[in-house]
Amino acid sequence: MGTARPDAVRVRRFTRTERALHWVLALGFFALLASGLVLYLPELSVLVARRPLVKALHLYTGVVWLVALALVVALGNGRSVIATVRELDRFDEDDRRWLLGRPSRPGRFNAGQKLNAALTAAFTVLFAVSGFLLWYGERDTRFRFAGTILLHDGLMYVALILLVGHLYLAIIRPATRHSLRGITTGYVRADWARRRHPKWIEELDREPGEAGQAGGQPHELARRQQYAEGNQ
Ligand code: HEM
Ligand code: HEM
Repeated sequence: MGTARPDAVRVRRFTRTERALHWVLALGFFALLASGLVLYLPELSVLVARRPLVKALHLYTGVVWLVALALVVALGNGRSVIATVRELDRFDEDDRRWLLGRPSRPGRFNAGQKLNAALTAAFTVLFAVSGFLLWYGERDTRFRFAGTILLHDGLMYVALILLVGHLYLAIIRPATRHSLRGITTGYVRADWARRRHPKWIEELDREPGEAGQAGGQPHELARRQQYAEGNQ
């Protein structure tokens, strides 16, 4: 048996369901952004010149998007998603230090990622509610509010800023872009994870049994994969 080569060891970061959820979220968002911009920007509206069609496309994309997100969780490994949501929801001392720019030891997600996840979830709900009101307000004037369109447009601007930051970290910034492997293949290098998310790896090393139970499948698989590959 050869010696373990920690650098080559890969740990499981996301289950297939989590990755599917992310990519359905991203795909729907881009489609809605594109059709929304055609409705929003006069130059594009003139170019496309079929507003009712684009409007219907935008609305139905929104409905299909929400249904698809729910289906991925319902039909896939919902437990792993719930476990991850719990992790994203937990704020500890290291998260506070991270936010204050002090040295910190992040767990599976750092405070920035936790904030990004919370904002994304809130925005998805707010997009859906304001979008529904935009549609329904045309049918029943009691549901037509001046603020609805402002909210929907405002969300788009803030979501766009978040997305630019997200893409920079995921694709360009050398220290973080290895995370792209996690969201595409499900696995990341152990040495990278140890550098970026030391507390997560420590948890996996220290209490594999408990972490497997508390964290659900990702931990379980991470541990198995880690040891299987490490012993090769
Ligand atoms: C469930 C999700 C969504 C639903 C149901 C929805 C629905 C709608 C509806 C009904 C309209 C009004 C169309 C009109 O009367 O002209 C609209 C406009 C718009 N939506 Fe959405 N939408 C959703 C998500 C999104 C997302 C994620 C974005 C961008 C990232 C977006 C961007 C826009 C923009 C830019 C407009 C044009 C507003 C304007 O004319 O000022 N929407 N949406
Ligand atoms: C091509 C586009 C995108 C790429 C390359 C990308 C990349 C990534 C990567 C690499 C991660 C995992 C980070 C980790 O290891 O923890 C991630 C997580 C995440 N992504 Fe994306 N993403 C994209 C689009 C989007 C969009 C459009 C949204 C929201 C509408 C989104 C929302 C999230 C959220 C909430 C997380 C979990 C929290 C976080 O890590 O910030 N992503 N994404």
